[in-house]
Amino acid sequence: MPKILFVASEAHPLIKTGGLGDIIGSLPVALASLKTDIRLLLPAYRDAVARAEKLSPVAELHVSGFPEPVRLLEGRLPGTQLITWFVDYPPAFGRAGNPYLDSHGLPWIDNALRFALFARAAVLLALGRAGLNWRPDLVHCHDWQTGLVPALLAQEKNRPASIFTIHNLSYQGLFPYQTFTELDLPAPLWSFEALEFHGQLSFIKGGLVFADWLTTVSPTYASEIQTPEFGSGLDGLLRHRSDRLTGILNGIDGKVWNPAHDPFLFRRYSARRPQDKHPNKSVLQREFGLPAQPETPLIGMVGRLVQQKGIDLVIETLPGIMRRPVQLVVLGSGDNGYEAALRRQAQRYPGRLAVRIGYDERLAHLIEAGADMFLMPSRFEPCGLNQLYSMCYGTIPIVRRVGGLADTVIDATEENLKKGNATGIVFEEARASQLMDAVDRALALQKNPDHWQKLMLTGMREDFSWHRRAAQYLRLYRHLTQSI
Ligand code: ADP
Ligand code: GLC
Repeated sequence: MPKILFVASEAHPLIKTGGLGDIIGSLPVALASLKTDIRLLLPAYRDAVARAEKLSPVAELHVSGFPEPVRLLEGRLPGTQLITWFVDYPPAFGRAGNPYLDSHGLPWIDNALRFALFARAAVLLALGRAGLNWRPDLVHCHDWQTGLVPALLAQEKNRPASIFTIHNLSYQGLFPYQTFTELDLPAPLWSFEALEFHGQLSFIKGGLVFADWLTTVSPTYASEIQTPEFGSGLDGLLRHRSDRLTGILNGIDGKVWNPAHDPFLFRRYSARRPQDKHPNKSVLQREFGLPAQPETPLIGMVGRLVQQKGIDLVIETLPGIMRRPVQLVVLGSGDNGYEAALRRQAQRYPGRLAVRIGYDERLAHLIEAGADMFLMPSRFEPCGLNQLYSMCYGTIPIVRRVGGLADTVIDATEENLKKGNATGIVFEEARASQLMDAVDRALALQKNPDHWQKLMLTGMREDFSWHRRAAQYLRLYRHLTQSI
C-alpha cells in the first residue's frame, strides 16, 4: 500500500478560497478509501486550527532559517478519518482571514517566507526527518504554494517520488531575486532551468521543473497550457515535460454537493423527485430580494470576480440579458473594479439583477439549487467545479468551450439532444455576442419542457464522483513508486 503525503495550502471545511479547497477536502479521502495510506499537510492558519477538532502536538521541527522551533499538530479532517498535520508557526500562520491576502486584498507581504517555511517542513516530513514514525513513498503537491517542495526534494538522494498538480497556472508565486537570497535556497536553483523566471523567483517552477510527474485538472487544460495562449509564459517548459504531464478531471464530494442531502437547501430533491427543486427557486428569489416569480427564468452565478471567470463579459452583456424576461443573481468577491461595476448594475436593474459581494457557502449551495441556469463564461478554466455542481443540481450550465468546461459539459445541439447526452449550453469565443446567443439558446430550450427536463436529468444522473477519477491518481502513484 503506497504511503502518500498530500501537501496543500487549503482544504474544505477547514479553510477554502476556491476549488482547490474542495479538491483537497475530498480527493485524499477518496484515495484513502482505495487503500492508500495517505496523510495531509496544511499550514496551521488560525481559522483552520479553530475549526479543526482536537489537535495535539506530535513533533517539533527545526527548520533552517527559522529561529523558533516549528510545531507539527495532528488531527483529523473534520467529518473524516484522514490524518491531517498542521505546520504551526504563529508568526507565519497565526493570523485570521484569507490564507493568501491581507484585509486590503493584497498578498500578505511575507508570503514567500510563509510558504517556504511550509515547504521546508514538508520536505523534513517527506524525508522522514520530522521524528514521526511515518515516511511517505510519494509526495503530492498542489499549486505554487507548494512548488518549492519538489525543488528541495530533488536536491536529496534518498527521497520519495513527487507529483505536482497544477490547479491554476496563472498563479505562480513570483518574487524578486532578493527573496531568493533571503530564503537561503540552494544557489544552483537560481537558473533558467530551475526557479528563475525572467529575473524573478518562481515558486511554481519548482514544481513544474522538478516534480517526477505533473498533472492538471482536465485533459483539455493539459493541452491548452502547452500553448502560448494559455501557458502564462510557461508553455515551453510544459511542452518540454509533456511526456510527464497528465490531465485528470476533478471529481466532486458527494457528501457536500448532493441535492438529496444538502442541509443548505429549503427542499431536497433528486433525479427521482426533480419537481422538489422548484421551492428552492422562490426561496432564492426572496433571499436576493427579487420577486418570487416561478415562471421567470432565473440565472445564477457564483465565483471569484476575476477576469479568468469572464465576469467582464457578463458585465458587457448585461444590458442585453436584462432586455430578456429573466432574473440574474450573482455571488462573488474579487477585483474591486468588478465588484463596484456589479453593484452599480444591480441598482440599474432592481428586481431583475441582484448581487451579493462576499463569500457565503450556504448561498452558493442555494444558488446551485434554486437557479434554472448557471453562468460560467470563463476565459480559461483548469477544471471548474461549479458547472459540475450545477449539473448535479439540475441547473443547466451555460459555459464557454475551454479547459475543464469543454471536457464536462455536452452542448445541447440538435444532434446531442436527439442522442440524449446533452447536459448544457456551450459557446466558443469569449465575446459578449456569443454569450448573449448562448443565453438565448438556453431561454429557447427552456420553453420546451421535454427538452429541458431531459437536459436536467441527464446531468443529474451523470457520475462526477471521485471514484473513477481517484483511481487514475492511484495508478500514477503505483507507476511512480515502482519506478523510483
Ligand atoms: P476556482 O477554484 O477557480 O475559484 P471552481 O469552480 O473550481 O473555481 O471552484 C470554486 C469553488 O469556490 C466552488 O466550491 C464555489 O462554490 C466556491 N465559491 C467561489 N466563490 C464563492 C463565494 N463568493 N461564496 C461561496 N462559495 C464560493
Ligand atoms: C483552480 C481552477 C479551477 C479548478 C480548481 C480545482 O482554482 O481555477 O478551474 O476547478 O482549481 O482544481
